[in-house]
Amino acid sequence: MPDTKPVNAAISITSRFENIELAERVVHDLMVSAGIGEEEIAPVIRALWEGIANAIRHGNGGDPDRRVEIEATVSPALVRVTITDQGAGFDVAAVPDPTAAENLLKPSGRGIFIMRQLMDRVEFSNLSGGGTVLLLERRLGTTQEREHHEV
Ligand SMILES: Nc1ncnc2c1ncn2[C@@H]1O[C@H](COP(=O)(O)OP(=O)(O)O)[C@@H](O)[C@H]1O
Ligand SMILES: [Mg+2]
Repeated sequence: MPDTKPVNAAISITSRFENIELAERVVHDLMVSAGIGEEEIAPVIRALWEGIANAIRHGNGGDPDRRVEIEATVSPALVRVTITDQGAGFDVAAVPDPTAAENLLKPSGRGIFIMRQLMDRVEFSNLSGGGTVLLLERRLGTTQEREHHEV
């Protein structure tokens, strides 16, 4: 059993796509330091990319002066990441369903769907002073159980 104390990290990036890689590295290394295997890290990193890409593109409108804050906490049982942008917020319930027939051929609109497939919790909250917080959580140590359920 690895150390059960949670580990944390935070990184603040400017809204440039190449900075996503920096945040990915921080969360990856944090998960490694918590004793999590690569097979459980990979889906989290994939979801992280989608969340930060949205924060940069849709939240901050690609304005490189606006920042995205990423905070991660990892315990042996759970990884939790929050991604905060400086945008106007949005209504996630109004986002079109990418699995609907009329949307199947569209090349975009799949990021939130993908995050929901990969993570156990995907929640957006709009901050009163502006900005959106995306909460991502995934339970850890359950890879075999998941695979069993997916069969
Ligand atoms: N952080 C955010 N701020 C504002 N709008 C957002 C944010 N994240 C997602 N959205 C909205 O949700 C929509 C769906 O996002 P997504 O599923 O990732 O598809 P895509 O990024 O390809 O449009 C976006 O087009 C955008 O309108
Ligand atoms: Mg997206």
